[in-house]
Amino acid sequence: MKTKQMKTMELGTSNLQVPRIAVGCMRLTELSEDQLVEYINWCITNGLNFFDHADIYGGGACETIFAKAFKKTGHPRKEIILQSKCGIVPGVMYDFDKDYILKSVEGILQRLDTDYLDVLLLHRPDALMDPKEVAAAFDELYESGKVRHFGVSNFNPMQIALLQKYVKQPLLVDQLQFSIVNSWMISEGFEVNMPTDGAIMRDGSVIEYLRLYDMTMQTWSPFQYGDWEGVFIGNREKFPELNDVLDELAAKYDVTPTAIAAAWIFRHPASIQLIAGTTKISRMQEIINGSNINLDRADWYKLYMAAGHRLP
Ligand SMILES: NC(=O)c1ccc[n+]([C@@H]2O[C@H](COP(=O)([O-])OP(=O)(O)OC[C@H]3O[C@@H](n4cnc5c(N)ncnc54)[C@H](OP(=O)(O)O)[C@@H]3O)[C@@H](O)[C@H]2O)c1
Repeated sequence: MKTKQMKTMELGTSNLQVPRIAVGCMRLTELSEDQLVEYINWCITNGLNFFDHADIYGGGACETIFAKAFKKTGHPRKEIILQSKCGIVPGVMYDFDKDYILKSVEGILQRLDTDYLDVLLLHRPDALMDPKEVAAAFDELYESGKVRHFGVSNFNPMQIALLQKYVKQPLLVDQLQFSIVNSWMISEGFEVNMPTDGAIMRDGSVIEYLRLYDMTMQTWSPFQYGDWEGVFIGNREKFPELNDVLDELAAKYDVTPTAIAAAWIFRHPASIQLIAGTTKISRMQEIINGSNINLDRADWYKLYMAAGHRLP
């Protein structure tokens, strides 16, 4: 199957057009500079112009090497959409104080070698957050033109609602962990009111909340299982049934198992932007192919069950 044109969507309630697949930049230090130039150039040329960073990826190195390699591709800045995150002080604490957010964004802009960020996300909820401080920081960043759009990551609905009460700019995005295997937000919707593990509410109906308020869900680690335990595709020891079904559907739709795992995410009617963390062009192509197939309803459910979930 050949790569087709990249599908796009609006980011949250904005009119910013973004590709359905974002390029995750957390693992970019695995590439040499030449490989990185080739990878970024291939992504942009194939419609993948949205890059997801964070100030902590590679201790800041991912943003720095990206900027250097991007410059070498010769593409103009306005051709790409840069998203980054702040708010985590690694291994120490979370910090949403105004000064910390402003200082973090200065660092991000410097490392990415740009005047503005298209999207800034708060990386993980800070229990000590004063929403008025965040609002003041966002106002300053917006008014100075340093950040154009805002969102959050790993927030539950009430945390979003609390912050949005004070922040003027619409929160467009919630970036969350989501894959066929790590799909508790789906299970809790099926197993409502049941005495089963799937009924445990981990994130407060976040997927329904995001749909209700037209926010985009960005999915991190779409091919991983557990708490950073690894990739489920091809892992027959832990996921024999799931890999049987992935293989069967890969043959049926004439794509690879990775494309099927991506298609499972795209089939959900929430406005989902998949953040792919691969560093390989061939793998990214498989994921693009996955965005171009529409899984049958029965196949979507079959994959869900094969991943070890249940329907009551
Ligand atoms: N907001 C947050 O808290 C948060 C947390 C984590 C990540 N993120 C973001 O989400 C992005 C994606 O996260 P991730 O890298 O964990 O996601 P991922 O796309 O699920 O995983 C990519 C990794 O899996 C490997 N892999 C091996 N076999 C694979 C297969 N068959 N299909 C796909 N990948 C395979 C890739 O290797 P190859 O390079 O060899 O393909 C790569 O190392 C990150 O880059 C980052 O931007 C956000």
